[in-house]
Amino acid sequence: MQLLTFSDKNGVADYVATYLIERIKSFVPSSEKPFLVLGLPTGSTPIPVYERLVKAYQKNEISFKHIVTFNMDEYVGLSDTHHQSYHYFMKQYLFDFIDIPKEQINILNGMASEAEEECKQYEEKIKSYGGIDIQLGGIGENGHLAFNEPDTPFEIRTHKQRLTDDTIVVNSRFFDKKEDVPTHALTIGLKTIFEAKQVIIMATGLKKSDAVAKSIQGKVTTDCPASMMQNHHNVLFVCDEDAASKVVQK
Ligand code: PGA
Repeated sequence: MQLLTFSDKNGVADYVATYLIERIKSFVPSSEKPFLVLGLPTGSTPIPVYERLVKAYQKNEISFKHIVTFNMDEYVGLSDTHHQSYHYFMKQYLFDFIDIPKEQINILNGMASEAEEECKQYEEKIKSYGGIDIQLGGIGENGHLAFNEPDTPFEIRTHKQRLTDDTIVVNSRFFDKKEDVPTHALTIGLKTIFEAKQVIIMATGLKKSDAVAKSIQGKVTTDCPASMMQNHHNVLFVCDEDAASKVVQK
């Protein structure tokens, strides 16, 4: 597990966006591997990364024609036109501004009548592309990855998840009131994230400092889902100084 620290959130976004731009530029599609598969998060942290990707596309530096995306999660009960849905978020910050073919975008359907079937098909689709090449993620203040809340088993795949009260309170900043935050989400599982070839987790701000320190240096425990990544062979945490402030220098 590697940690890179930058002075502020712009440094984090510059690093991650530059890395992704280079990977997209250097990807050569072939009959065996026609697509570079990206796992994408929502939330405040990735917004400046998406802004930089859009700029790079507008400057003709990159194209998304050979990119397939799988989003991490979606709220149960919000349609793709709901302004707080992650479908809407992704269009608002990335997909409406780039040349990715619609059929290469994958986001769990929070309105699916059969949630279990929806989750199963999502896993199968990820497998059909040969898995996720680069999984980008944020981290929750409680150490969650995607919506895998504390106490979620490490072996879990894409599933329906009840959100903890902490997460509902944290995410209520995007809604008019706390009661409007959905209580459940569909989310890729910890195992799904663990199987990605590479995982990049971004964290900015003091509020993330406990989760970052526990994930990197704490015990590997379901109390802190992101601690599972200590056993992954290719994980990079990219943090600002505040988020990394409780990591003990050795
Ligand atoms: P944030 O969310 O980027 O809005 O802080 C991250 C997360 O909850 O995983």
